[in-house]
Order: sequence, then structure tokens, then C-alpha cells
Amino acid sequence: PEAIVVSELANRMAERVGDVVKSLMQMGMMVTQNQTIDADTAELIIEEFGHTVNRVSDADVEQVINEVQDKAEDLQPRPPVITIMGHVDHGKTSLLDAIRNAKVVAGEAGGITQHIGAYQVVTDTGAVLSFLDTPGHAAFTSMRSRGAQVTDIVVLVVAADDAVMPQTVEAINHAKAAKVPMIVAINKIDKPGANPDKVRTDLLQHEVIVEKMSGEVQDVEVSAINGDGLDDLLEAIALQSELLELKANPNRAAQGAVIEAQLDVGRGPVATVLIQNGTLRQGDIFVVGEQYGKVRALINDKGERIKEAGPSVPVEVLGLNGTPEAGDVLNVTSTEAQAREIAEYRSKAAKDKRAAAGAATTLEQLMANA
Ligand code: GTP
Ligand code: MG
Repeated sequence: PEAIVVSELANRMAERVGDVVKSLMQMGMMVTQNQTIDADTAELIIEEFGHTVNRVSDADVEQVINEVQDKAEDLQPRPPVITIMGHVDHGKTSLLDAIRNAKVVAGEAGGITQHIGAYQVVTDTGAVLSFLDTPGHAAFTSMRSRGAQVTDIVVLVVAADDAVMPQTVEAINHAKAAKVPMIVAINKIDKPGANPDKVRTDLLQHEVIVEKMSGEVQDVEVSAINGDGLDDLLEAIALQSELLELKANPNRAAQGAVIEAQLDVGRGPVATVLIQNGTLRQGDIFVVGEQYGKVRALINDKGERIKEAGPSVPVEVLGLNGTPEAGDVLNVTSTEAQAREIAEYRSKAAKDKRAAAGAATTLEQLMANA
């Protein structure tokens, strides 16, 4: 059953904790401010103090999240989200740098990507594309998995001078698990030892049959260094996204996925969120995983402050009460009380789950030691 610490209850009602303790005593309950009371007792106290009871349940949480069911006529085309994946050093960031005309690789420690980069690109043909760059190093499996889960298309980068490697295979498996279509970018074809056909043959062993091998997966030969094949890659992406007919409703409360989040010394908790539906605006109230907040500022991938972020836009969100977890879902709510209640409800549910798991282990240990 639900329960709450006395001081917390007083806090939430904005009443003095001493008064709450006194009330409890009058009801025959001898508790200190640090003790827990059950939900029914709390409800009595809340009414006693003239407040209204607002208990959150799983069903309420579900309701907030699925509040708006989009009608077909409300849906509008949205940009594709493309996640770049592949083995370490196969040239993922370089490829994105070439597409974006940027120099991210040059600024990376040891030339190794250690987080998910999120960027929006407008191509020469006017197409808007959202890209996620993932790390290839073996240690970052969960980031790759997350990248595959929030994307529409995976671009699998394989270096032609190195062929299929362990994290190439891992990326293929993430894309398959997430049921996301793949495009193979055979990179570094400028290198003397490049053997793109070896890449194609290697991929057969992992049930990736590219077009040149009479399969259905688009394959493009590229060089991030001299720019060869980049237009072909963008064309392949355009073709694939056309097939997907991607749509969203920009005119609704925003929903998004946390790509990454950290506690910034100067700015407080900051989350990079990929908006999946609706439009997030400055001043919006939201719940995100076990945290909640009010959008204080939105910052795009170029470091500029923006007023709103629509479907498929990656954006930094400021104004959180705490740091959410990567992978958490953000939902805009109508009131701050609702956002806080859902966040607290989730936080408590997670705590209970951890406590239950902890108790189980202790019991097991006791049995083992007996
Ligand atoms: P991680 O993020 O650490 O997994 O690496 P990455 O896949 O992002 O590779 P990155 O773009 O950092 O490139 C690794 C190295 O390969 C760098 O030294 C690049 O200059 C080089 N490189 C990338 N693409 C090409 C290419 O097309 N041709 C040649 N010759 N070198 C390339
Ligand atoms: Mg990289």
C-alpha cells in the first residue's frame, strides 16, 4: 500500500509539520515527523487541513501519456530521424561532419565518440534530416541500443578497409531488434586497401543482403574524407524515408525521448530530448521519467536558444527539478501538480521495486548462509 513520510505530507500541503504531528496525535497516532503513515491516514489528515486529495495511480499515468489520440487529419509529414551506427573508428562522426560541414571529430578526446550527438541538417535539396551519432566503442552498448530505439532509419557505417567487426554485428542486431530499416554506408573507399565487396559478402553472414547482392538493403560507397558518394547516401535516405511516410501531429502536447542528460554546473540538470510528437515550448510543464519541470529554455544543436521544438527535433531542455535517465519519456502535462504527482509516483514505484529486489537478495543470502 501507498505511504508517505509525515514531514513530506506537511511539505506538500504547505502546513507546519508540528501541526500535522499534533493532528495525528489527536487521532491517536503517536508518530514523529520522520515516520511513515499509510495513504488512508494521510487522506484523513489532508481533509482535516481542508485540502483536496489527489492520488495518482498507474491508470492516471497511462492516461496522461496517451491523453491525445491523434486523428489522421491532424498528422503532418515530419523529418526522418537517422541514427549512425557501426564499429569504432569506421568513420561515423566523420561522415556526419562531411554531411553537416562541421568538425566534431577534431574536438573529440582521442578521436573517440563517447556520447550520442544529435543534429539537424538541411540538405541542398531542402530536405530536413535529424541525425543521431552513436559511439562505436564496445563499452557503449546501451547508447547504441537507445539510438536504434528512437530512430526511423539506421545508417550502418562499415569501413571498406576493415569490413564487418563486432560492433558492426551488434549494430545490425540493435536495428533488427528495433525493427528499423537499415542503409549500409561502405566508408573509406578512398583508402588504397579498400575492398567494398568484402564488406558486402561479410554482411551476408549476418543476413544483411544489400542491393548489389540482389537484396533489399540499400548500399552506398562513400568517403567521408573526400566527399565521394555523400549525395548518393542522402538520396538513399530520402528514398527510405519516403517509403516510411513519417508523420506526427505538431499541434498537441509534446512527447519526446531523452537521448542523454547530465547535471551541468552552471545550468543545472540538462536533458537532450528528441521530440517525437507535438511541439515543446518555453514555459511548458512536463514530467520526464521520475523528474518534472517547466521549460526554462530550449537550445538547438547549434547552441542557439529557440522558442519551440516540433516533431523530430533534438533539443536541450533546461528547467528540470532533477536529472532524468537517458531513455526516459518526456510528456507535457496541463498542471505542475500533475507533473509532480506522476514523477513522485514513479519515483516511489521504482524505490519499492528496488527495495523488493533488495529484500529478495537478502532472503536468498540468508537461505544460502543457513
Ligand atoms: P567512434 O565514434 O569512436 O566509434 O569512431 P567513428 O566511427 O566516429 O570514426 P571517426 O569519424 O572518428 O573516424 C576515425 C578515423 O577514420 C579518423 O582518423 C578519420 O579521419 C578516419 N576516416 C573517417 N572516414 C574516412 C574516410 O572516408 N577515408 C579515410 N581515409 N579516413 C577516414
Ligand atoms: Mg564517432
